[in-house]
Amino acid sequence: MKLTVIGTGYVGAVHAACMAEIGHTVLGVDINPDRVDLLNRAKAPMHEPGLDELLTRTVASGRLRFTTSLAQAARFAGLHFICVGTPQQPDSPAADVRYVDAAVEGMAPDLRPGSLVVGKSTVPVGTAARLAARLRQVAPQAEIAWNPEFLREGSAVRDTLWPERLVVGVSSARAEAVLRDVYAPMLRGGVPFFCTDPSTAELVKVAANSFLATKISFINAMAEVCDAAGADVTTLAQAIGEDSRIGHPFLQPGLGFGGSCFPKDIRAFAARAEELGAGKAVAFLHEVDEINTRQRRRTVDLARALVGGSFADRNVGVLGAAFKPDSDDVRDSPALAVADAVRAEGAEVRVHDPAALDNAQAAFPELKYTSVVPEACDGADLVLHLTPWREYAEIDPALLARVVRRPLLVDARNTLDVQAWQQAGWCVRALGRPGLNGAHRHATGTGPYDGLIGVSLESDPCM
Ligand code: NAI
Repeated sequence: MKLTVIGTGYVGAVHAACMAEIGHTVLGVDINPDRVDLLNRAKAPMHEPGLDELLTRTVASGRLRFTTSLAQAARFAGLHFICVGTPQQPDSPAADVRYVDAAVEGMAPDLRPGSLVVGKSTVPVGTAARLAARLRQVAPQAEIAWNPEFLREGSAVRDTLWPERLVVGVSSARAEAVLRDVYAPMLRGGVPFFCTDPSTAELVKVAANSFLATKISFINAMAEVCDAAGADVTTLAQAIGEDSRIGHPFLQPGLGFGGSCFPKDIRAFAARAEELGAGKAVAFLHEVDEINTRQRRRTVDLARALVGGSFADRNVGVLGAAFKPDSDDVRDSPALAVADAVRAEGAEVRVHDPAALDNAQAAFPELKYTSVVPEACDGADLVLHLTPWREYAEIDPALLARVVRRPLLVDARNTLDVQAWQQAGWCVRALGRPGLNGAHRHATGTGPYDGLIGVSLESDPCM
């Protein structure tokens, strides 16, 4: 089949390459000419495992190319996937759908009769219906469907070629048939295919993200209780995760979620539900958001307590800038939020990341950056582990101990082998684990770390 992909960011570039990989002839479109140029040279515009190889193969095959022209795209094929961004509005929690609207408006005058325009962007429920009404005015023979995207950055190619499920929201049997056809190789592999109405399809996406975000904030709320009670949240998470009704995924306590999806999607969902008169039903999402944001402050508080109550004149080495491992995406990165907060309080901060340094530098130019872990930690009074890249789990803590000034570590992701670090002489702290290094918090203070600062650290073997 011939198809186009409008918007070639994290979702669109992968979708375009994967559609070409399974045999379709694909024209990708982006308003960013630099991105189009890179993609036409088979270079991935972002760090995404496997994408460079896929682009090299599919661009060379002649089945994939890119343009900046929406009109050309509209004429190229009868099937169009919209993958443009839907960020949070600058002054409201709602989603900014102007890029989706602009893509549809831009193509409308040139759409072939019978075209199917399929949204993949995450949008407020009702967007497909609104766009369908608009198309009835400007391109009456075109049709809208919604096919939300569930890929995860870091495993986007695999998630697209071998999805866990496909969800399509359509208004006609013809649209369903077209989408079954385009995804035929996946369907032959037995992937569950949910064909529903566009509103349900739109809601499936935000409901899934809301559930996952809630799971993360739930375990982080438990971490706060563990801090208050002198208990250990990692053991708690493992124990409750063994319950097959709960499960382990997304039950990793730590710094919380960030990135370009969960934070803005739960806010936009709550705002849209409010508009629909169903705000109360998802009011808990405000608490999920608040718990999540609080983990960033709690991490800074814990770090400050460790270096003696002030960051002034302290050197801090930061491990991780991307919002998650295997990605160079720094949008709403918890790691950079913490690093910058520590810098703003007077610390000299050096950040390491295996892939996201360019994006981090552009977003937070006042931080210092290095691509070498020991350089980030050279002379550090404190090391903050903020993004759980696999390579940080492979650090030799004894070697790193030689370059720092003081072997103090906050494992804000709870993914390092704490015992190995302790055996190498490090004092390790983590949210929800007040008993690390035998420093038990006594329930005497009123603030989250009063006991930790005032009582425990004095008797801490690492102090
Ligand atoms: P992105 O910001 O990386 O890419 C969007 C691209 O669209 C940019 O390259 C931009 O230049 C282009 N664009 C904007 N307006 C355009 C127009 N009128 N015509 C052509 N191109 C245009 O966004 P990302 O991360 O790929 O997300 C896209 C959508 O998918 C969003 O709604 C997001 O919520 C959703 N999503 C994102 C996932 C992720 O992991 N990044 C996962 C699942 C869904």
